[in-house]
Amino acid sequence: MKPTLNIRGFSVFKGLLSPGRQADLVDRLRGVTAAAPLFSPQTPYGKPMSVRMTSAGKYGWIADRSGYRYAPVHPNGSAWPDIPEPVLDIWHGATGLDRQPECCLINFYGPDARMGLHQDRDEADFSWPVVSISLGDDGLFRIGNRTRGGKTDSIWLQSGDVVVMGGVARLTYHGLDRIRPGTSSLLRDGGRINLTLRVVE
Ligand code: SIN
Ligand code: MN
Repeated sequence: MKPTLNIRGFSVFKGLLSPGRQADLVDRLRGVTAAAPLFSPQTPYGKPMSVRMTSAGKYGWIADRSGYRYAPVHPNGSAWPDIPEPVLDIWHGATGLDRQPECCLINFYGPDARMGLHQDRDEADFSWPVVSISLGDDGLFRIGNRTRGGKTDSIWLQSGDVVVMGGVARLTYHGLDRIRPGTSSLLRDGGRINLTLRVVE
């Protein structure tokens, strides 16, 4: 599959998911959040993050006073639910890989949520890409460099867009500046969902 555009090594597939596939994903994610409820993580510095999150897969990504890490269970002590099949299909389609991701992090952005510039670096092997799926309201995604600072580029990600961060861009700083509330009717109560799929081990 050929990306629509490539920004600083990030492959962006605009509108990869049809409205029907997006609605099906949201249904499947409701099943995940019923078993593994969204929670409000705290950074290790004690600041609450503005997104709410949960995960599916063998591992979930969590943040709390002890740090950022992958955990085998939800903060409530339950195992994470399986990653829904249609989510895995997107991973395989976008990456061409046979290997399965072990974590699907689900971030929910309300109207004022954001995500500061960061690297995804809690995984054991950076040769595997990270896949990001956007659902719901538009989000302004910022892409920087492999070290902190310097010029950045921004792109509005829309519902159904898929981004692959791999190769030289695997450790590039990225973040989400803000969402544009009311730009999508996919989620009944608005907001944005971002799924990130990662090989952890
Ligand atoms: C992330 O990098 O964790 C989130 C990116 C996004 O929300 O698009
Ligand atoms: Mn990230």
